[in-house]
Amino acid sequence: MRPFDPSAIAPLLLAWYAKAGRDLPWRHTRDPYRIWLSEIMLQQTGVDTVIPYYQRFLEHFPTVDKLAAACIDEVIALWAGLGYYSRARNLHAAARAVVEGQGGAFPETLEGLQALPGVGRSTAGAIVSIAFDRKGPILDGNVRRVLCRLIALQDDPRSARSERLLWEWAEAMTPAGRPHDYAQAIMDLGATVCIPRRPLCPDCPLALLCRGRALGLERELPARRVKKVVPQREQIALLIRRGDAFVVRKRPLQGMLGGLWEFPTAELGEGESEQGAVNRLQGDIGLSGRPRPVGEVRHVYSHFRLLLHVYLIDFQGAMLIAEGEQSRWAGVGELQGLPLHGAHKKILPLLASTV
Ligand code: ADE
Repeated sequence: MRPFDPSAIAPLLLAWYAKAGRDLPWRHTRDPYRIWLSEIMLQQTGVDTVIPYYQRFLEHFPTVDKLAAACIDEVIALWAGLGYYSRARNLHAAARAVVEGQGGAFPETLEGLQALPGVGRSTAGAIVSIAFDRKGPILDGNVRRVLCRLIALQDDPRSARSERLLWEWAEAMTPAGRPHDYAQAIMDLGATVCIPRRPLCPDCPLALLCRGRALGLERELPARRVKKVVPQREQIALLIRRGDAFVVRKRPLQGMLGGLWEFPTAELGEGESEQGAVNRLQGDIGLSGRPRPVGEVRHVYSHFRLLLHVYLIDFQGAMLIAEGEQSRWAGVGELQGLPLHGAHKKILPLLASTV
């Protein structure tokens, strides 16, 4: 197969971008704060989902100083629904590092950016390119797909060898001139033309160079990874109702879904029945009575699937739930606005059927 010169890519891509590039909110600014925020939000989330979150976030926190001065709960509340919440915690920590360590000025180098929590090699490349117009290679999910096809990489793209090779190509293809436009162009190509499964090769400015297409492999690449079996976990969620209010608890800041709210929950142990877990949870809370099942909710995380059995109990008697930072009563209307994590948000439609 005839190899291609990596420096042939940028001129073709830039000409295409001038005609076909997308108009996105973060393309109207060079403010590193706004660009950094967009790149963090876009790490695991698509453009259409990100846009309203991005705009709302900036209305609340228009500058890095405002974000650094906020409390983490406000940040988490604005993030609720975007998923991958460690991004929100890292964002807050990074804003504080920029304000406290650097007087509010963002680092302008790849190394400096990568020292911030939540900023990896590819995100740092995107930020230096887009905010500072300096060469910064990018290898995010979209670019990875483009490169796997361009160089017809048939190995597992996540192996250490592939990773090295892909970064080499990403470096070699990224031009020293116009890194700002090039970064957006290669990401747009991956998002709109070199899309998963059925790429739109007739629209692609790189089609004539593409080794994957020449081999007829464009739909096969990137090579699928051997599928991991994702384990299923089961939990009980207990709706403790008093009038139209329910008990909710805040998850500890450290750890999965930290800082988000949920109904009291217990994990089913190995071989444990639902009733066993309900009894255990009731015992922990010190709650008598007999909860009844009101439905099930399923939710998929990156490393497990969750089956949540939802039980309801009417609370009678004295106040036994200590109200405070970590645990409180919330009315149905208030629950809609509370940053519950995704699985427990799915419980809300069940509440109507419990009255
Ligand atoms: N994905 C990651 N960064 C992006 C950007 N700046 N524009 C569009 N999609 C992206």
